[in-house]
Amino acid sequence: MVEALGVAVVGFGWMGRVHTQAYARVRHHYPRLALRPELVTVAEEVPGRAEEAAAQFGFASTTRDWREVAADPRIGAVSITAPNFLHREIAVAMAEAGKHIWIEKPVGLTAGDARAVADAVAKAGVQGAVGFNYRNAPAVEAARDLIGAGEIGTVTHVRIRLFSDYAAHPESALTWRFERERGGSGVLGDLASHGADLARFLLGDIASLTADTAVFLPERARPAAATAGHSRAAGGEPGPVENEDYVNCLLRFASGARGVLEACRVSVGEQNNYGFEVHGTTGAVYWDFRRMNELGVSRGTAYQDQPVSTVYVGPGHGEFAAFQPGAANAMGYDDLKVVEAHRFLRSVAEGTPYGATLTDAVHSAAVLDAMARSAERGTWVVPELPG
Ligand SMILES: NC(=O)c1ccc[n+]([C@@H]2O[C@H](COP(=O)([O-])OP(=O)(O)OC[C@H]3O[C@@H](n4cnc5c(N)ncnc54)[C@H](O)[C@@H]3O)[C@@H](O)[C@H]2O)c1
Repeated sequence: MVEALGVAVVGFGWMGRVHTQAYARVRHHYPRLALRPELVTVAEEVPGRAEEAAAQFGFASTTRDWREVAADPRIGAVSITAPNFLHREIAVAMAEAGKHIWIEKPVGLTAGDARAVADAVAKAGVQGAVGFNYRNAPAVEAARDLIGAGEIGTVTHVRIRLFSDYAAHPESALTWRFERERGGSGVLGDLASHGADLARFLLGDIASLTADTAVFLPERARPAAATAGHSRAAGGEPGPVENEDYVNCLLRFASGARGVLEACRVSVGEQNNYGFEVHGTTGAVYWDFRRMNELGVSRGTAYQDQPVSTVYVGPGHGEFAAFQPGAANAMGYDDLKVVEAHRFLRSVAEGTPYGATLTDAVHSAAVLDAMARSAERGTWVVPELPG
């Protein structure tokens, strides 16, 4: 028996659209899902944006005030895709109102915010899914399985990179992302949060770290009108960039493995260059988001000159079979969000979590806080991970 679940989306920028599309598609890919999401309300503060979303995707109603979503008995689950500074307030209110939440990373501005949301979700007994979508890629799941099975021996070291040019243009608008009060710690929350999650997903907890950060473009132009995603504001009044463009970080894992995590939002020539190289005593695995469905694998007993082969993920890997019938038919970014929607809705249907949760968000945020502290003090720092 399939039951309807009323859903709302709060914040209809890039991620609001992607979550909405995922709700619309999820049953196409997962016909056995016990819930049918129904688009009840979209909350958006920019005039007209919610109405446009409703016209395009069929939300039954719209609002400028997300508090109406919390009070609406038709709604059982809420996507929180508003800017980072609103995550905590909205998420806690939704959980307290008994709504299940699917919230975007980094879940607030600090680890304290992520913990507050995790606590509220636990106290309310609702489900809380988090947008760490890269771990949903079948190749990333395959890498984790392969590492866990000891196929590259004992992991020695890893490099995790997240390089982007989304903020590289000198005319890119001074949006909420570049303000400490509304965007938090810049590229740390934006990109390194995904890196910290991937590090833990693949290799377990980070025991200590040391980091360095930089702001390479200290001023940007204020936008004259509402923005979404990464807008330009040529000629706008200049204002200061208050948070990090760049972070590099040395990692020591609890396992003893070592790592390097580097993230930058102003890397000219880099478009979504996200990925990792994990090395072990007998082999290695390589993944690049831009070739999301491929995994580079070196394994064997040769040690030196050991070949690297390309595995095209297929129906045996992760959630691939829900999207394509055979290996090397490509999945895309939005499909990772459909996987996430499915895991979220399955969590709601079965009352048990699947996929990334708020515990994962607290871990990632604790690592980001540790990076910020380390950069400030110039020392190694132990992240305050949840017990
Ligand atoms: N998982 C990923 O790969 C990924 C990618 C991009 C962004 N994100 C995260 O998603 C979130 C949103 O990012 P985005 O790129 O979609 O930003 P965006 O600026 O495109 O969209 C945010 C939207 O929220 C709206 N908004 C602002 N205040 C509001 C309020 N009080 N009530 C309702 N709506 C309000 C804005 O008008 C805008 O439409 C951020 O937390 C970001 O870190 C995640």
